[in-house]
Amino acid sequence: MAEVLIVRSQEEAGSIVARSIADLIVSRPDAVLGLATGSTPLAVYAALAQIIEAEGIDVSGVRGFALDEYVGLPQGHPESYRAVITREVVEPLGLDPAKVLVPGENATSIQTAGEDYEAAIAAAGGVDVQILGIGRTGHIGFNEPGSSLASHTRVKTLAEATKRDNARFFDSPDDVPIHCITQGIGTILRARHLFLLAFGAAKAEAIAAALEGPVSASSPGSAVQLHPHATVLVDEDAATDL
Ligand code: GLP
Repeated sequence: MAEVLIVRSQEEAGSIVARSIADLIVSRPDAVLGLATGSTPLAVYAALAQIIEAEGIDVSGVRGFALDEYVGLPQGHPESYRAVITREVVEPLGLDPAKVLVPGENATSIQTAGEDYEAAIAAAGGVDVQILGIGRTGHIGFNEPGSSLASHTRVKTLAEATKRDNARFFDSPDDVPIHCITQGIGTILRARHLFLLAFGAAKAEAIAAALEGPVSASSPGSAVQLHPHATVLVDEDAATDL
C-alpha cells in the first residue's frame, strides 16, 4: 500500500520530494530520475533547483528519462515535452542535457522507438525515483484507461478528454497532437521509488480511484497499489474523496 501524505500546499509537497531527491543525488551522483511534465511537478523542480544551488550539489552525473512525449509536433515546438523538460528541469537544475532523454527523440523508426527507450532505461540501470502526476482521466504518463498494467513504452492515441485538458497549452485545440509516446505502466512500476503528486479538487476522483479503487487497467493510477515503495502527496482538495 502506498504511503499517503496530505500536504498543505504544492510548495510543501515540492520541498518534501525535492529533499528526498537531493539526498539521493548526494549519495548516488549518477542517480537516474524519472521526469514528469505538466503543472503538478513544477513545485518539485523549483524546490530542487533551490536546494542544489544552496547546497552546491554536483548534478553533473545525474541522468533523466522523461515519461512521455507528443508525436507529430514540429521539432523545437515550445510545448513539446523535450522543450518543457529543458525549460523546467534541465536548465534550472543545471543538468547535463546529453544525459536527459525523451521517448521517441532521434528515433530511427517510430515502430522501434519504444523498445529503444526501454533499452536505454535498462542500460542506465533503471530509474531510481519516478515523479508522477495524474490526469483527470486517471492517466499516468499518457497511459489512458485501458492501458495494460504490464505495458512498455509505446505509441498511443491521446484520449479526447486529455486533448481537451492539454488544449490550454496550444493556440488552438486543433493543434493538440493526436498521438504520443509514453512509458508504459509496467515501465513506471520498475522504477525503484514512485512519487505521485496531485493537487486540486479536479484530481479528487482520480486519486480516490487510484488509491482506494480496484487495481485495474481502467484506472492506470491504481498501479501504484502494486508498487512496494510509492509515496503519494496530495493537498486537501485532491484528498476529498479518500
Ligand atoms: C499530462 C501528462 C501527464 C501529467 C498529466 C497531468 O497530459 N502527460 O504526465 O501527469 O497530464 O497534468 P497536470 O499536472 O498539468 O495536471
